[in-house]
Amino acid sequence: MSDHEYGIFLPIGNGGWLVSDTAPHPDGSYAYNKKSAILAEEAGMDFVMSMAKWRGFGGSTDHWGRSLESITMMTGIAEATERVKVWATVHANVHHPAIAAKMFVTLQQVAEGRAGMNIVSGAYADEFQQMGIWDADMSKDARYRMVDEWTEAVTRLWTEDSVTMDGEFFTLTDCESRPHPENPLTIISAGSSALGRDFQARRSDGAFLSGSTMEELRTASRDVHDRAAAAGRDVKTYGMLTVVLADTDAAAEKRVTDIGVGVDREALANMRLSWGMPADRVSSWTESATGIDAFQTPYVFGSPDTVIGHINTVVEGAELDGIMLIFPDYLEDIPPFGESVLPVLRAQDASSEVSA
Ligand SMILES: Cc1cc2nc3c(=O)[nH]c(=O)nc-3n(C[C@H](O)[C@H](O)[C@H](O)COP(=O)(O)O)c2cc1C
Repeated sequence: MSDHEYGIFLPIGNGGWLVSDTAPHPDGSYAYNKKSAILAEEAGMDFVMSMAKWRGFGGSTDHWGRSLESITMMTGIAEATERVKVWATVHANVHHPAIAAKMFVTLQQVAEGRAGMNIVSGAYADEFQQMGIWDADMSKDARYRMVDEWTEAVTRLWTEDSVTMDGEFFTLTDCESRPHPENPLTIISAGSSALGRDFQARRSDGAFLSGSTMEELRTASRDVHDRAAAAGRDVKTYGMLTVVLADTDAAAEKRVTDIGVGVDREALANMRLSWGMPADRVSSWTESATGIDAFQTPYVFGSPDTVIGHINTVVEGAELDGIMLIFPDYLEDIPPFGESVLPVLRAQDASSEVSA
């Protein structure tokens, strides 16, 4: 077993990944994200990553109503950190590849080689309808062809002095983009369909997967690993996990219960509408929603031992190369995770390497 990677999903949108009036509420500011990134670096994490979001979900929490722009925020964080990898998200449907190529070369210089680019296709209509740039007639298949061509354009601009291409979506004519990055950027992709996994296997170095059960995650992880191997490539797979840590299991369980009390059903319903769930299904979902629906991702609660056991079960059971962690209160929760959980996970990886 090789070393696993652990990083954090920065709370670039207010509220982070808990949708509840009774949860801690990261404010989405640069100051909060910068402190979180520095704490993650001090804790010994491998990466910090931020998403790109253009519209929130309302409700009593105004969930993600306030969010900064990912690439510029991560450029500041690159300057504020020294060792941790800094991964920013870019929408292929928003930024022209020649613009994105330069923005990420800039990030890579500031980060002195630690930068990564998380490429997303822009799947949520509401975010782009408000800007007048949503193409309702574009099929998902076409969207991934666009992302593929976009990625080819960016990577060619990073390595060739002049690029001419007449593609289905982008036209470049003697297009120049210097300087080229001195160190290659890590390419990440967060898609979950078969089309998304195909793109991840062919074009990315790291794939963020979503799955509500361990079996779903394992199937997705195997699929990306297998497709990548067939293409002679090596792609790392990552899951997401929210960690609610306390000294004892009982104290952690109380944190989860307290978070659930104020679940913001309205914001959660708006989120589901934005994913394209039909309105009648959203209203029946809303009626049956419970406190744990405040958690947007799989989660674990417990003492350090319980959390370590669960993380081992997930990374091994789902055959993952790493996990992107979410915390209710990043500023309070990262230091104890760095003291009592991460060193044990690292020691386990080190000893399994020795015995392998
Ligand atoms: C870890 C992770 C991060 C994501 N970040 C973003 C993001 O920043 N912006 C965005 O529009 N979509 C984001 N997505 C959504 C994906 O890009 C993708 O649209 C979604 O997983 C559906 O997958 P599909 O397009 O393959 O169907 C993210 C998904 C995951 C799992």
